[in-house]
Amino acid sequence: MGIYGEHVLPRVINVACGLKSVAPLRRRVCEGLEGNVVEIGFGSGLNVPFYPDSVERVAAVEPADVGWKLAEKRLRATSVPVERSGLDGQSLPFETGSFDTALSTWTLCTIPDAATALSELRRVLKPGGTLHFLEHGLAPDEEVRRWQHRLEPVQKKLFGGCHLTRPVVGLLTAAGFEIADVDIFYEDNAPKFVGADSLGVALSA
Ligand SMILES: C[S@@+](CC[C@H](N)C(=O)[O-])C[C@H]1O[C@@H](n2cnc3c(N)ncnc32)[C@H](O)[C@@H]1O
Repeated sequence: MGIYGEHVLPRVINVACGLKSVAPLRRRVCEGLEGNVVEIGFGSGLNVPFYPDSVERVAAVEPADVGWKLAEKRLRATSVPVERSGLDGQSLPFETGSFDTALSTWTLCTIPDAATALSELRRVLKPGGTLHFLEHGLAPDEEVRRWQHRLEPVQKKLFGGCHLTRPVVGLLTAAGFEIADVDIFYEDNAPKFVGADSLGVALSA
């Protein structure tokens, strides 16, 4: 991956994704998480302060060692047991049906094969389990989409393979999730091409 991908990028993500302005979105997406939780693309643990009391434990899946190191302070400050349990959302090292709920924030853009990651999440969720998602992707407006297609090659180079044009709801439904709730909006304080967010809950029937 090189020095930039291994050492610089996780720090850039820690700052960019840690802005105070996104805290209300993190709070919203974590609402309703419960029991045994799997979080893919755990990063530097920016969701940890928002885990509700109903969360019993979290299995964190994250390839970047530096992300995990940057999470230390947040992990010390929480009473929720969080264990680094895997490195790749596309191949989860868990038994089928072992989680009550799952969490993914701004991660489906980066995982090389998002469809495989979602099918893995469906496998490890119990029937009736829910995936709480907050993801940026293909914008609702054609003009913004044109910019997303133009900028995607640069975005992928600079941000570790991050795609701008993934259709979040389409990916979820294609993987067999049922959308229980979704809000699609442009993030405040972010350019529209990278801030077209989908926040919601998808049910694994
Ligand atoms: C934009 S960051 C978001 C981090 C975190 N979810 C957040 O909200 O702050 C995307 C994360 O996905 C991780 N990632 C990349 N490839 C992955 C994979 N195959 N499986 C799981 N996570 C992956 C990256 O290391 C990075 O931490």
